[in-house]
Amino acid sequence: MLKLKTEDGVIRYEKGYEEFARWLGVQGIENVISNTCDVEDKWIRGRVKLLKTEFGEFLLKEKRSSLFRSSILKEFQNGILLKESGVAVLSIVVCVSSKKYKRDYGFLPYISGSLSGLHIIKNLLWNGFSDSLRKRVVWTVADIVARMHTAGFVHGDLNPSNLLIYGLNDRNLKVYLLDFGGVRKSSSLFARVKDLARLWRSAKEVVSERDGFRFLRRYLSIVRGDIRDYIYAVERRLRKIRKR
Ligand SMILES: Nc1ncnc2c1ncn2[C@@H]1O[C@H](COP(=O)(O)OP(=O)(O)O)[C@@H](O)[C@H]1O
Ligand SMILES: [Mg+2]
Repeated sequence: MLKLKTEDGVIRYEKGYEEFARWLGVQGIENVISNTCDVEDKWIRGRVKLLKTEFGEFLLKEKRSSLFRSSILKEFQNGILLKESGVAVLSIVVCVSSKKYKRDYGFLPYISGSLSGLHIIKNLLWNGFSDSLRKRVVWTVADIVARMHTAGFVHGDLNPSNLLIYGLNDRNLKVYLLDFGGVRKSSSLFARVKDLARLWRSAKEVVSERDGFRFLRRYLSIVRGDIRDYIYAVERRLRKIRKR
């Protein structure tokens, strides 16, 4: 993490974004904010804004500075940790802590043409997908969740709106995790299952049980044995209940 001190506060940024960070420092955060626009996508939840610059398009997230769990700064730091562990995340690359406005601002590269998982589910796109596309999406999501868990992190707010999906129509399907202000280090089985349950709860209205099991099977093939035994037990139990 690199740092730039300005009159108003601190700009933290990742390698590769020094020019953008310097530019932010010169413009002043107030001017930059007033140049953002709304994202034209009714499926985007949350108060994000779009900033178009010569360095590319960025999504802006803004929150009151806080020492509590889900701050912008936490999300920025967690993004670095997750990336270092090889988890595909779309993270804040520049973070501005403004003393004057008592706020933190985070900028992340905007992926145009991507869809959030929420979009896919609420817009009922899921039902229109072919079985093989559904399988590919489910597997890709299971991979990324499993990779995060085996790297020793839990998300804390894993739900479809915090998954960004790109390249649905080509071979190169990509899924990114978003919004990890609440990510923490934990290898607790309970915390992991909570992540999975939260994701399932928000998807199960639309996603079939078959796809749910596909997810589990793929997830379990990646995570370590301890949780695998646990979830196999749950799976067996569910089957028994359903047979009754
Ligand atoms: N880099 C990005 N490119 C395109 N869309 C994004 C990007 N990051 C987030 N989004 C969209 O914005 C929404 C809100 O982002 P998120 O980081 O989850 O903010 P919040 O903390 O407000 O929930 C996501 O559900 C997704 O639809
Ligand atoms: Mg979110």
